[in-house]
Amino acid sequence: MNSQQVHLASRPQGTPSKDNFELVTVALPELKEGELLVQNTWMSVDPYMRGRMIDRKSYIPPFQIGEVLEGGAIGEVTQTNNPDFPVGSKVSSMLGWRSHFVSDGTGLTLLPTTPLPEQTFLGIMGMPGMTAWTGLFRIADLQPSDTVFVSAASGAVGSIACQIAKMHGCTVIGSVGSQEKADYLLSLGVDAVINYKETEDLTQALAEVAPQGIDVYFENVGGEHLEAALNNMNDYGRIAVCGLISQYNATEPQPGPSNMAMLIIKKLKMQGFIVFDHWAHYGEYAQQMGQWIAEGKIKYEETVYQGIDQAADAFIGLFEGKNKGKMLVKL
Ligand SMILES: NC(=O)c1ccc[n+]([C@@H]2O[C@H](COP(=O)([O-])OP(=O)(O)OC[C@H]3O[C@@H](n4cnc5c(N)ncnc54)[C@H](OP(=O)(O)O)[C@@H]3O)[C@@H](O)[C@H]2O)c1
Repeated sequence: MNSQQVHLASRPQGTPSKDNFELVTVALPELKEGELLVQNTWMSVDPYMRGRMIDRKSYIPPFQIGEVLEGGAIGEVTQTNNPDFPVGSKVSSMLGWRSHFVSDGTGLTLLPTTPLPEQTFLGIMGMPGMTAWTGLFRIADLQPSDTVFVSAASGAVGSIACQIAKMHGCTVIGSVGSQEKADYLLSLGVDAVINYKETEDLTQALAEVAPQGIDVYFENVGGEHLEAALNNMNDYGRIAVCGLISQYNATEPQPGPSNMAMLIIKKLKMQGFIVFDHWAHYGEYAQQMGQWIAEGKIKYEETVYQGIDQAADAFIGLFEGKNKGKMLVKL
């Protein structure tokens, strides 16, 4: 059995390009006792993977040149010598960016029986959805009276954060990079949307749509977005720093916001987080989110690229705003 794999060919300098990736065919070994063969059906591409392409110490080790990339994936067991994983069972793993793999079961999770499509466990029912919920409730202490600003608001995390906050009774403002994305968010009930690519002064634009000020900023972008949010925060506001995607491809360290004094003047709290530190709460999240979806209270969107040879395009597309909702590759 062969496996098609995407390897890191070279470390991106600035925005990743296709020659940073190489599609390689690798022969897999025969199954030993206790092992199983998984055929991946879906793989996730995520902005955080850009950080793993840099050779530096972080909360997760860097990818190595010439080695297969890793990322969230859903697959089906097609051969087995392991009674815990019968043929036909569906598993999630961190062994994406490859068509097949042999495993002894370590790190594999059997998908629960659910009416939801399996790929939702890479999106709304998986890490990105859990990130939105964690940032709002466990980091920003969301209250129904809050006005919430979400950047990268039509993406996998942002679109769920907007909807959860709306459902909680909040006034929600999103920022996105196109009119189509703005329309999508308005169709979900978001109160106001800023197209940052058409906006000259983000601080002013935010003040116009949120004259009452911002209580919670769900930060996905950094840079000008953070500066504008700080300028518009209310006293005792909370900022959940989830991501800084505008800086991931920077070739030099980026300057901090020029208005950090707002943290003091407005007595703000700003906290970064990594969702995996909160995974003990995933069961609570999944139960709640499954119910919200079943009741039609939350909707999810997916942008799907077809085939492992499209994986690099899908990943690069994250930095070009090519996705609405969760960016996925169907294998
Ligand atoms: N802390 C954690 O545990 C954790 C977990 C998951 C994700 N994250 C972070 O959360 C953020 C969102 O992740 P996601 O998976 O939901 O990705 P996503 O939002 O689905 O996809 C990325 C989106 O970011 C926007 N974007 C790209 N470059 C930008 C730029 N220079 N300025 C402004 N917007 C830009 C694009 O939308 P537009 O067209 O609107 O520009 C793009 O569609 C990322 O920063 C990610 O690293 C953190």
